[in-house]
This record gives sequence, C-alpha cells and structure tokens, in this order.
Amino acid sequence: MNPAVNYSIRAMTLADYDEVFRLWSEAPGIFLGDDDTRDRIELYLKRNKGLCFVAEAEGRVVGTVLCGHEGRRGILRHLTTERALRGNGIGRALTQQCLAALAEQGIRKCNLYVMDANPEEMGFWKHVGFHQLDDDYRTLQHPTQAGPCSEPAAPNGLPSCD
Ligand SMILES: CC(C)(COP(=O)(O)OP(=O)(O)OC[C@H]1O[C@@H](n2cnc3c(N)ncnc32)[C@H](O)[C@@H]1OP(=O)(O)O)[C@@H](O)C(=O)NCCC(=O)NCCS
Repeated sequence: MNPAVNYSIRAMTLADYDEVFRLWSEAPGIFLGDDDTRDRIELYLKRNKGLCFVAEAEGRVVGTVLCGHEGRRGILRHLTTERALRGNGIGRALTQQCLAALAEQGIRKCNLYVMDANPEEMGFWKHVGFHQLDDDYRTLQHPTQAGPCSEPAAPNGLPSCD
C-alpha cells in the first residue's frame, strides 16, 4: 500500500480487460495493435500466468502491466498508470512486482522496448533501474501465418502487429 494513494496490486485477469484497455487507450505512449484485442490478451494471460498485474484503488483499475518470458528473458509491455494518479509509485510497484514474479520463475533478466516516438518513457525506465544495452539491435519479424499481421507496418509508422 502507498501512503498517498491507497492502492493494491493483484494478478490481472481477463475480467479486467475493459478497464485495462481504457487505460491503455488514454495513454499516448501506448501503441495498441492487433495483439491487444480481448482474445489476444486472453492468450497472453494464459501463456504468462502470474506475471501480469493491475493496481486497484477504490475498486477500480488504475494501473496495469503485461509481463511474459520465453524461458530466458522476461519482457515488460504496456505499463500504464491512470494519468491523475501518476507520481504515486504505482508504475514502480507494478514493475517491481513483475521482476519479482520473473525471478520466482527462474528468469534472471528482463528486457523491454522503448520506442523512439516515446522518449519520456526512457527517463522513467532508467529512473527505476533499467539500463540501456550497448548492442544496437534492430527488431526483425516474420508472421507465423497468412493474415492481417503478414502486412507491413501501417504507413503512419505504428506497428499494427508488433
Ligand atoms: C510511465 C508511467 C507508467 C509511470 O507511472 P507512475 O505511476 O507515474 O510512476 P511512479 O510514480 O511509480 O514513478 C516511479 C519513479 O519514476 C519517476 N518518473 C516517473 N516518470 C518519469 C519520467 N518520465 N522520467 C523520469 N522519471 C520518471 C518518478 O518521479 C518516481 O521517482 P521516485 O520513485 O524517485 O520518486 C506513467 O507515466 C504512464 O502511464 N505513462 C503513459 C504510458 C507509457 O508511456 N508507458 C511506458 C511504458 S510501455
């Protein structure tokens, strides 16, 4: 619990989807795509049990994060705190919860992507202890089946199927 805002953190369930999606939609730094629909998030939650969380205050969802791993590295996505409650430690607490849950599952390091279009985000992640790797990777991708996600990124530059 935080002394300024009375919030608690619990595992995210599919029942949280509408509230979570609202938070993401209201955050300009969160780029939503085809993998953020209810059925895709259901798949993500099933695949990454005990790794995705919400923060609740006064009975509603005020923060959220997706976290997963592939057996070697963790990954954090879509960390969001409701605008009016930012600066109360919710983002840090959700991040720490993910890191602890990954450690419990034997995962030693956690990565995340910071988009060039969202430079403020970099400040937050460095402030809460993430460091930028020296290697300058580019992300490559291949669809696993024919369909909308086999199309290239939309002309507005936003990845529709990242
Ligand atoms: C990024 C975000 C999740 C931070 O949530 P938050 O609940 O306000 O974060 P916290 O209150 O836990 O902040 C933790 C610390 O980071 C600092 N901080 C917050 N945003 C920061 C920024 N942009 N740059 C540098 N430091 C920052 C806080 O001052 C705080 O410092 P302290 O612990 O030393 O007092 C929130 O701003 C947000 O939802 N942004 C929109 C969505 C987004 O861009 N998400 C990026 C991840 S995909």
